[in-house]
Amino acid sequence: MGNCWYAPPKVDDFYSSKSNFEATKCQDKPSPILTIRSFREKGRTAIRTLREKGRTGKMSSPRSEDEILSSPNVKALSFSELKTATRNFRPDSLLGEGGFGYVYKGWLVEQTLTAARPGSGIVVAVKKLKPQGFQGHKEWLSEVNYLGQLHHPNLVKLIGYCLDGDNRLLVYEFMPRGSLENHLFKRTAQPLRWETRVKIAIDAAQGLCFLHSSESQVIYRDFKASNVLLDSEFNAKLSDFGLAKAGPTGDQTHVTTQVMGTQGYTAPEYVATGRLTSKCDVYSFGVVLLELLTGRRAVDKMKVGVEQKLVDWAKSHLDDKKHRIFRIMDTKLGGQYPRKGACIAATLAMTCVNPDAKARPKMDEVLAILETIPSLKCTIASSPSEQQTLASPLTKSPGYLDHPSPMNLTPRGSQLPAHIRLPQGR
Ligand SMILES: Nc1ncnc2c1ncn2[C@@H]1O[C@H](COP(=O)(O)OP(=O)(O)O)[C@@H](O)[C@H]1O
Ligand SMILES: [Mg+2]
Repeated sequence: MGNCWYAPPKVDDFYSSKSNFEATKCQDKPSPILTIRSFREKGRTAIRTLREKGRTGKMSSPRSEDEILSSPNVKALSFSELKTATRNFRPDSLLGEGGFGYVYKGWLVEQTLTAARPGSGIVVAVKKLKPQGFQGHKEWLSEVNYLGQLHHPNLVKLIGYCLDGDNRLLVYEFMPRGSLENHLFKRTAQPLRWETRVKIAIDAAQGLCFLHSSESQVIYRDFKASNVLLDSEFNAKLSDFGLAKAGPTGDQTHVTTQVMGTQGYTAPEYVATGRLTSKCDVYSFGVVLLELLTGRRAVDKMKVGVEQKLVDWAKSHLDDKKHRIFRIMDTKLGGQYPRKGACIAATLAMTCVNPDAKARPKMDEVLAILETIPSLKCTIASSPSEQQTLASPLTKSPGYLDHPSPMNLTPRGSQLPAHIRLPQGR
């Protein structure tokens, strides 16, 4: 093959309308051509599959607190059992801390859900809300509500909850490899391989796709690396449904709500107007995809200027006439990634963070594009000389000029303008 060059689109192109995704004829080989239209079809199939294999719960219309807590899907657990199960919330059992709570490792007897001796029974993660009066009650209830009803391989499982005086706790399946945030940014963490990063992106996209595709759509609202958890095989699951919100219904185009989320991940139009749509999750997904590619945080206060915000920084490099994609890639990858796959992922990420929400793809389209990446195993950009070659100015093909598409992924040397050409056999 070897023909995996890429003429990266300019940022203006990233931000041009999605309608520019058009089919063009492949001129050299009759290999399958993937256009946004076929992505849509693939996306619809993906959604059907997700519905068939994943969903076991159905979101019912707004429920009262009593209804949520008395649902047969969630178990009420006693505070004293959870205290024993986590060895009195011992600091050395601490798995992590978020905005709302501390999460501890614990052990329960599977059948009775009573405390078990450490090392026996099932391992669980117990989130204990920070003592802040009832400020976190709404978020706690929201998690019981959503995770009690929605079941999917890419959503973390909620085992039970505890409501005892001022204490509010949640008990989840234990995710042995912790959060994606730790793997990407902790100094001591073993760097994640390219294949693992792509798999995590696909898993997380499947989780979001499932939420967005449900009859009563759910907007996750807090998609970020610390809310993506990994099991022993690096399967990724979304956790932390504290900010999840029912999507618009009927003729509504959005829901208006108080702006919540995490700086650097939140979509600009939502911050500006409080109008929430599923495209806000797509924006956050784009930011996490950039984190996966670059190994940089969404916001790094230690940096200055354009370096501070990942989206701006990535844009500044991909906007550059020289289109030096390798400059944005995580050096911890050691150059071990297929150029074409990296280019597809980077372009997709920039499309997701388009300031114009309407021009962002839907999650099923994002998923369909991501799913093309694992099969791209062409030349590895490993040596500095190769990276130099990558960095050399690319001649713009006529197609590149004619089709300022956000997905203008044009293999260099071919005459193909605006499409992604998949390798044979997919
Ligand atoms: N099920 C789990 N298994 C392992 N670690 C977890 C689990 N749930 C949470 N954690 C760890 O705790 C951190 C905070 O959890 P999270 O649910 O996001 O809390 P918050 O609602 O306060 O943001 C996560 O980033 C992760 O490191
Ligand atoms: Mg969190």
